[in-house]
Amino acid sequence: MFDPSDPAFAADPYPTYDWMRAHHPVYRWAGEGTFLLSRHADVHAAWRDRRLGVDYRLRLRDDEVAAGAIPEPWRAGAYPAFAAYARWDLLAIEPPDHTRLRRLVTEAFTTRAIEAQRGPAVAAVADALEQAREVGALDVVRDLAEPLSLQIIGDLIGVPAADRSLVLGWSHEVVRMYEPAATPAERSQADAAVSAFTTYVGALIRERRQTPRSDLLTGLIEAMHAGTRLDEAQVTSTVMLLLMAGHEASVNAAANGVAAFAAHPHEWTRFRAGTVPTTSAVEEVLRWDPPLQLFRRWVLEDGVVFADTEIPRGTRVGLLIGAANRDPARYEAAERFDIGRGEPSHLAFGGGIHFCLGAPLARLELQVLFEALARFVPRIELCSGVRRRPGFQFRGYSALPIAAR
Ligand code: HEM
Repeated sequence: MFDPSDPAFAADPYPTYDWMRAHHPVYRWAGEGTFLLSRHADVHAAWRDRRLGVDYRLRLRDDEVAAGAIPEPWRAGAYPAFAAYARWDLLAIEPPDHTRLRRLVTEAFTTRAIEAQRGPAVAAVADALEQAREVGALDVVRDLAEPLSLQIIGDLIGVPAADRSLVLGWSHEVVRMYEPAATPAERSQADAAVSAFTTYVGALIRERRQTPRSDLLTGLIEAMHAGTRLDEAQVTSTVMLLLMAGHEASVNAAANGVAAFAAHPHEWTRFRAGTVPTTSAVEEVLRWDPPLQLFRRWVLEDGVVFADTEIPRGTRVGLLIGAANRDPARYEAAERFDIGRGEPSHLAFGGGIHFCLGAPLARLELQVLFEALARFVPRIELCSGVRRRPGFQFRGYSALPIAAR
């Protein structure tokens, strides 16, 4: 049964996904009233369907939305700091606001700026691995993936190194807001974290306004002053989103990949032999066990049909990425972890107008990390102390120690 609050389900949702795809390709999740899609073709199409959207308010009145369908964090007044952030959260807004804001962020987020992070990323990973060698152990999350992602997104945006652990703490708390099974106490804590994070970013904007640098924050501030293109609330939400999205998913993707290689030593040997391009291995890591499992969309019109089932206007569909990525109708031996597959058609980065803005950066980080790790250990052996992250939507590990000898 689909039950995100059940740790056993969250630890391995894939057998349930198989059952859903085969028997209930549109599965009504009673807990939330969401209609879950699990087939690759349906999830792929849903992301591109403009009759679906992230914000119902442009097209529907509150009374046209299914009773109880508005999740608690989005109910008016429930979590004020979160609501202020969400107003300009790219993930939660629709055209024309979305188009305009996304274009400005993309301008500042250039391929050159991203590629420039490769050298520092290689150096950061080499440092982390050298230290691990001395100690004889390596926690992939704490010692490798987290510092790497934080350094890269922090440098790109222009967050001082000394403040990055603060950002990490807020980020972990804020993302709990999105977990379907979060308690009211966790949501209040998440709202308090949004508030502290907002204050911090506001101060950073003021500081950078006085002392511009060659970073993304300066680029966004310049866009703010070039006419009326961006306001401070928009810049604040965008910086917060980038700081959160910029490491949560990448860290989990790295850890899921290391765990996949630990469970498939033959694939690790193949990777180390250099016969499979790193780019192909990284795509398979993202396909086989994606770090983000579920996104939702409002049904804004009548007549929306998936797998012969009409989904009522005013309800929500859920896009199950992990299920779509292992659809046997799309991939041969879909359940097999095969790094030579070289399939970029997986849906780990979403699709349509909200397609992941950080995909090139995430790919760069994962490439650098796995290449360095391949030179570092002939076998990936998990040590005691492996801990999954709680929750379902963000899939990964809070600790993933491996032997470093
Ligand atoms: C392996 C790592 C990552 C994965 C699997 C991932 C996945 C995703 C997915 C599935 C979406 C679409 C969500 C939706 O349709 O509602 C998305 C959007 C987004 N991602 Fe990523 N992401 C990753 C890394 C990053 C990084 C490193 C950054 C930033 C530096 C980033 C920034 C964003 C932003 C800003 C959006 C919103 C785009 C929009 O709404 O127009 N992501 N990501």
